[in-house]
Amino acid sequence: MKSATEMISLSQYLIEEQLKLPYATGDFTALMNHLVYAAKVVSREVRKAGLTDTILGATSETNVQGETQMKLDRYADILFTKALSICGHVCVLASEEQETIIEIPSGYKIGKYTFAFDPLDGSSNIDSNVSIGTIFSIHLRKSPMGRMGVESDLLQQGNLQRCAGYILYGSSTMMVLSTGNGVVGFTLDPSCGEFLLSHESIKIPESGSIYSINEGNYDFWSDSVKAYIRKIKNIENNNKPKTLRYIGSLVADFHRNLLKGGIFLYPEDTKSKIYPLGKLRLLYEASPMAFLAEQAGGMAITVDGERILDAVPTSLHQRTTLITGSKKEVEFFLDYTKQFKK
Ligand code: AHG
Ligand code: MN
Ligand code: MN
Repeated sequence: MKSATEMISLSQYLIEEQLKLPYATGDFTALMNHLVYAAKVVSREVRKAGLTDTILGATSETNVQGETQMKLDRYADILFTKALSICGHVCVLASEEQETIIEIPSGYKIGKYTFAFDPLDGSSNIDSNVSIGTIFSIHLRKSPMGRMGVESDLLQQGNLQRCAGYILYGSSTMMVLSTGNGVVGFTLDPSCGEFLLSHESIKIPESGSIYSINEGNYDFWSDSVKAYIRKIKNIENNNKPKTLRYIGSLVADFHRNLLKGGIFLYPEDTKSKIYPLGKLRLLYEASPMAFLAEQAGGMAITVDGERILDAVPTSLHQRTTLITGSKKEVEFFLDYTKQFKK
């Protein structure tokens, strides 16, 4: 680990990356600097959430997902929406907290990128001071420059992402991102207000002993998922059963497995029909996480084995199942569940 004086800041990193690209215009760097600003402000509010009643607790609203909107959901949504809408390099946004696309306000420059985000991931954990996060996904627009972006600019495959990442408001605040050349991690140093490069190249271990799934949904799983979970827990068949670690914040569960190795599963709910296609949203949860997983040497598929990054979104808030993590763990899931598929 480098000392703080040797570590480069995220802003310096982005400029160095930009200089490597002869055709770079600096638009992406400018966009990212607006994102970093919003991340620092949300991090500051999260850190003092228990001290003010403006951040903890629920609003009286339910969001487009039909879930109670937490005050911090709304705060983060407003902040990231504003920061990215006025940066001059985005043509259209999509937020988990807003039903339709977010257009660029009149009077502001319309740029060449799209920005899809989950402003606050793990909302159910906010009031209990458990790690939460923000997830973002950036594409190049498909529609011609010079006019407002449209929904189809956002509905692009994950393998076309220009950048994907998350901010984790955990024991420290980290930003983990990839622009397609591996995964890097930056840790916020509150004493100087800079994200400093702390993880130069994150690679997920090929296998891992952690599995992450909401065991409370056991009854709702398909037979193949039930059989897989029984298999990885069955001591007779394994010399070492896996360890269950599940926080209920995708960003935190994903980040831990990224560093330590393991598998995260959010399969479909075959019984109550609340989440027949899985709970997680493709555009701003599964797709950016899948980009990071693959860039770190891991995998990300649906419960049926489809590559998440190949999925073509048809609506902003469409849901998907998600199985992601260490390559060998996801491959074993695929291989083992085949025999139980009808
Ligand atoms: P969000 O707070 O943005 O709605 O996301 C919550 C998601 C995800 O973070 C987590 O993995 C999953 O919901 C947990 O769902 P369960 O509580 O059903 O396990
Ligand atoms: Mn979420
Ligand atoms: Mn959310």
